[in-house]
Amino acid sequence: MATAKSVWYCSSCGNESSKWMGRCPACGEWNTMVEEPKQTAAKGQGRKTRAFLDTRNPEPVSLNEISLKEEKRILTGSPEIDRMLGGGIVPGSMILIGGEPGIGKSTLALQIPLACSHLRTLYVSGEESPRQIKLRAMRLARRNTSATGSTSGENCTILGETLLENILEQSRKLKPELLIIDSVQTIYTESLESAASSVSQVRECAAALLRFAKETNIPVIMIGHITKDGIIAGPKILEHIVDAVLQFEGDTKHSHRILRSIKNRFGSTAGIAIFEMTGTGLKEIVNPSDILTPMHRNALSGTAVGSMTDGARPFLIEIQALVSTAAYGTPQRSTTGYDTRRLNMLLAVLEKRAGFKLSAKDVFLNVAGGMKVTDTACDLAVVAAILSSNFDMCLRPQSCFAAEVGLSGEIRPVSRIGERISEAARLGYKEIFISSYNMNDELKAGLRDCRIAIVELSDIGQLCRKLFKE
Ligand code: TYD
Ligand code: MG
Repeated sequence: MATAKSVWYCSSCGNESSKWMGRCPACGEWNTMVEEPKQTAAKGQGRKTRAFLDTRNPEPVSLNEISLKEEKRILTGSPEIDRMLGGGIVPGSMILIGGEPGIGKSTLALQIPLACSHLRTLYVSGEESPRQIKLRAMRLARRNTSATGSTSGENCTILGETLLENILEQSRKLKPELLIIDSVQTIYTESLESAASSVSQVRECAAALLRFAKETNIPVIMIGHITKDGIIAGPKILEHIVDAVLQFEGDTKHSHRILRSIKNRFGSTAGIAIFEMTGTGLKEIVNPSDILTPMHRNALSGTAVGSMTDGARPFLIEIQALVSTAAYGTPQRSTTGYDTRRLNMLLAVLEKRAGFKLSAKDVFLNVAGGMKVTDTACDLAVVAAILSSNFDMCLRPQSCFAAEVGLSGEIRPVSRIGERISEAARLGYKEIFISSYNMNDELKAGLRDCRIAIVELSDIGQLCRKLFKE
């Protein structure tokens, strides 16, 4: 009987199939099946089943007998990354940093050994030569260079290699405290016939690195590319084997980058860190509100400040709207950083529930700083910005908004309102518009020390009266 020479893998989830299919039956994605040579059991498949198992401790143990001695975490030198990882890198863990090309993954990874000069690091690069990395390190070190002119990173070793077996051999010899692999798509193992960055290579290399991390207790940071039009042999198929997945997002044309925790076995995923890409590397932004809210305190029409939370803490963000008479028959609705369908919904609510004739107007909406707003607590700020632009009247400069707008024009409560109000008060805002359903005695008691006026609203009609008629 003839044996099949190829197998098909889904490049999104890694599902294996003996024939090509238009749609992956496991994850439902279309057109993701890629053909790869079939591995013989001796070479590839047999090892794969053992790949994710930590075989050091095969005996069953009672839950009560497992000792929980305090595990010492490795600090990365970046308080924001440490916070996202739940207090630093856990020894023996594997962290995946995913993101589009050019977003700054290599820069982020290289900043770790430069910031922690005592940390013995092996940085394996399959993409850049050691010389290129040195140039980058010098660029990054400009910020940290001491008066004597010495650069940090004396304990950082660079290896330009793509063969997995050699990488592991060098790592065993060097015994670093941290291993960085840049990137998982460029490395390959000789035990498989398929080309580097194919699904089976990425999966097998990641599994071997995971085994290495668990055996030696050396943490591994792995960089993985995500392409704009879907994921090629990408981090998606690795998500379930690694301990933490940090996704680097942002518009490469903008300087702000968001590091988001998608999975974290050693901490919460409710966290983002915001960085700014500068001429000397990534700079942490500890107080995002400071850069995302208006610098110009003299008010302009069409801008409103909303409160958004994206993970750990709420911050304030500027929303800008421009409402003008439509030049053509069909009015335009265009947004940057905001869902156009949500904007259409809010416009319909304004038209139906508050009687504003916006159907013949062009509406443009922009979120400051290249950020993306998905938090519905920004609804009220969007509505306020639209009304402000429509009437060409400025809002009071030190006011901000935190509430959701419902389909019947009601102003709905939002989560974590106490933290949102405290953040607004900390930044010196004088008043915040919230839903009256959010107000209760507990909140009142908690806000006794906050110097901020709270304006309670229950429907959208009240908003217009409070904004412009008082
Ligand atoms: P890089 O880390 O190479 O991205 P990735 O590894 O995700 O592909 O970063 C690439 C971009 O960052 C590049 O366009 C140049 C920019 N950059 C700076 O703006 N400042 C810097 O100090 C560095 C090192 C890079
Ligand atoms: Mg890179």
